[in-house]
Amino acid sequence: MKVLVVGNGGREHALTWKLLQSPGVQEVVCVPGNGGTANLPRCRNLAMSVTAFEGIARCALVNNLELIVVGPEVPLAAGITDYLQAQGLTVFGPTQAGAQIESSKAWAKTLMAEAGIPTAAAAVFTERDAAIAYVNQHGAPTVIKADGLAAGKGVTVAMTVEEAIAALQAIFDGQFGDAGKRVVIEDYLTGDEVSVLAVTDGLTIRPLLPAQDHKRIGEGDTGENTGGMGAYAPAPLVTPALMAQIQTEVLEAAIAALRNRGIDYRGILYAGLMITPQGQPKVIEFNCRFGDPETQVILPLLKTPLEKILLACAQQRLADLPPLEWQTGAAACVVLAAAGYPAAYENGLPIHGIPEAEATGALVFHAGTKLVQSQVFTDGGRVIGVTAVGDGVTEALKNTYAAVECIDFEGRYYRRDIGHRVLM
Ligand code: AMP
Ligand code: GLY
Repeated sequence: MKVLVVGNGGREHALTWKLLQSPGVQEVVCVPGNGGTANLPRCRNLAMSVTAFEGIARCALVNNLELIVVGPEVPLAAGITDYLQAQGLTVFGPTQAGAQIESSKAWAKTLMAEAGIPTAAAAVFTERDAAIAYVNQHGAPTVIKADGLAAGKGVTVAMTVEEAIAALQAIFDGQFGDAGKRVVIEDYLTGDEVSVLAVTDGLTIRPLLPAQDHKRIGEGDTGENTGGMGAYAPAPLVTPALMAQIQTEVLEAAIAALRNRGIDYRGILYAGLMITPQGQPKVIEFNCRFGDPETQVILPLLKTPLEKILLACAQQRLADLPPLEWQTGAAACVVLAAAGYPAAYENGLPIHGIPEAEATGALVFHAGTKLVQSQVFTDGGRVIGVTAVGDGVTEALKNTYAAVECIDFEGRYYRRDIGHRVLM
């Protein structure tokens, strides 16, 4: 089978790598892909935007690509699945209606309330004065969220009322454009965060291994939020009993609520959860796609051929698929970022040592890179994710950091404390 993967991050490199591992996959076309996918055998990059729906459809039809896997949220929220399905193509990824679970936090909150899904209490505002009055009345800490897509930057966890009001002013002043036309103000939750990604065909939903991401730029989980600086899986925090609870109270409840709204959701449902000090899961957010870098630690442990899972979801026959099979052990990923990220950074710096890192047995997933005449250059904020496996999280982390040491580019930054919550 031939597959088209939409996107250009570390997540899409990992998806493409995993698909090509399977004897059932002949070829993958990446739109647009990156320096890592450019180097994979039986893979080619096609330089097109992820929202060039017409071009993507034409490419899939002309080349008989039997499955289209959409990585990022932006094309999903813009309706890529609706467009491609209307052309008779088979797509892994929800429709525009389904993608609202990520593209509108207010919409997701209403859905969760309807379904009785555990989450922080929240209120939605479209007027600045009413939002400020609410914060003054409710106090801090509190969490201010722009309603729409803001590339992971739309959330402020405000420890004081002043901080909360400043965040509201910035949003209503247009910091996030239309994404900030509505604001969700949410109760502050404490606990440990975990990402539970699940595959679904709209009827059946099955969790993948739980993972833990590290969203902040600084060690000890300090500083600004990023797309994610590292991850590991499986997260021991999610015991089998807790996973069973998440399955019924969160995943199945969400799919039922989507179905009640007439939404046939086929793709990934990603639940970002806070596990409270009482051990209860509460949904912080839903995403409508694979996580990045969670995908880079989940897929290396997957034994079931990936294309079989994705196709079963796209064709609504997930219930017929045997249980997913996983390798024992754990995987860890450390992200190497450009100096300055998540603020401004430089592109075009040569990267050295990738073959040496791979020689240790690690996987080097390119996130923001470009291949120019067989030299790899930086081309994004998150540049590379190094993943390694081991018997447990401790060993996986040790192997990952050994490989990270091999890779160098000017100003390279990475967190040295990925996995600190398990190692404690
Ligand atoms: P989100 O983009 O919704 O995932 O939020 C980004 C980050 O903000 C999350 O990973 C959490 O660390 C934090 N966050 C979001 N909502 C809450 C909340 N209600 N309580 C505490 N922290 C939160
Ligand atoms: N790693 C967080 C995300 O993919 O949203």
